[in-house]
Amino acid sequence: MPSGRLSVVVTRRLPDVVERRMQELFDVTLREDDKPMSREALVEAVKTADVLVPTLSDQIDGGLIGQAGERLKLIANYGAGVDHIDVHTARQRGILVSNTPGVLTDDTADMTMALILSVTRRIPEGLSMMQKEDWPGWSPTAMLGGRIAGRRLGILGMGRIGQAVARRAAAFGMQVHYHNRNRLRSEIEDDLCATYWESLDQMVARMDVLSVNCPHTPSTFHLMNARRLKLMKPDAVLVNTSRGEVVDENALTRMLRAGEIAGAGLDVYENAGAINPRLRELKNVVLLPHMGSATVEGRLEMGEKVLLNIKTFDDGHRPPDQVVP
Ligand code: DGY
Repeated sequence: MPSGRLSVVVTRRLPDVVERRMQELFDVTLREDDKPMSREALVEAVKTADVLVPTLSDQIDGGLIGQAGERLKLIANYGAGVDHIDVHTARQRGILVSNTPGVLTDDTADMTMALILSVTRRIPEGLSMMQKEDWPGWSPTAMLGGRIAGRRLGILGMGRIGQAVARRAAAFGMQVHYHNRNRLRSEIEDDLCATYWESLDQMVARMDVLSVNCPHTPSTFHLMNARRLKLMKPDAVLVNTSRGEVVDENALTRMLRAGEIAGAGLDVYENAGAINPRLRELKNVVLLPHMGSATVEGRLEMGEKVLLNIKTFDDGHRPPDQVVP
């Protein structure tokens, strides 16, 4: 017998409290293990559910959406980035898409700063030395990094996260520069003490640190391609907490190996399942397992956003975080 409640399929384990709330509100199918759903299971889900709650580890492409049943009306993504969802095909099929913006801004910006400091101050090298009991003792010339105060930080993508990085970087004494599809209003620029560069090439060529904070879209794929990476100063550092696809990972790896740039801090990869193995060998590279938004608080707030999006839709209104292609 239909329960009258929305049928919701969640593709990954979510924090317990979020799952419990889902069970209270909806007729929900939860995961027993934390492995991504198989394609077959996803097809079954879109054929039978009213709402799908995917994460970035699911490919919600046009082929999958094309197989959706009449019932599927909302894809309520657990996450901010929606580059794994074919939002255009969803729209054509009358399926709404929502996401969880805002609640992972501070955490991701914190991680951006952590990567900048880790690379420039060689924190993982120091940690590894201590863990291996390989520390010969303090020396005036050992483990020297670079000071970030006074350095030029170029932020590529000045949305919520880019702006949160700008505030943090300014507090660290960095000079903030940015490139964005649209220039910010002058009051916001003044507030952030941020200098706008219309030309990305010119900005890239002048920065000491470049932080990638734009979403991955067809127009940002390989925005940092081999040609543009080559414009970076040899003593510059690149950090990416957005999406791997924005940077040509192979070109970056070649340049790091050749010493053509000083270092990189990466939380994201072009293919998380097949990271360029050469990256792992490099001392001047800090690699993290896509944990920019991984805080207890952030994950709960993401869950609250998903719940609110579904609940609002269930009440007959637009989900507050509807993604418009
Ligand atoms: C997102 O929500 O898109 C983040 O990348 C997840 O960490």
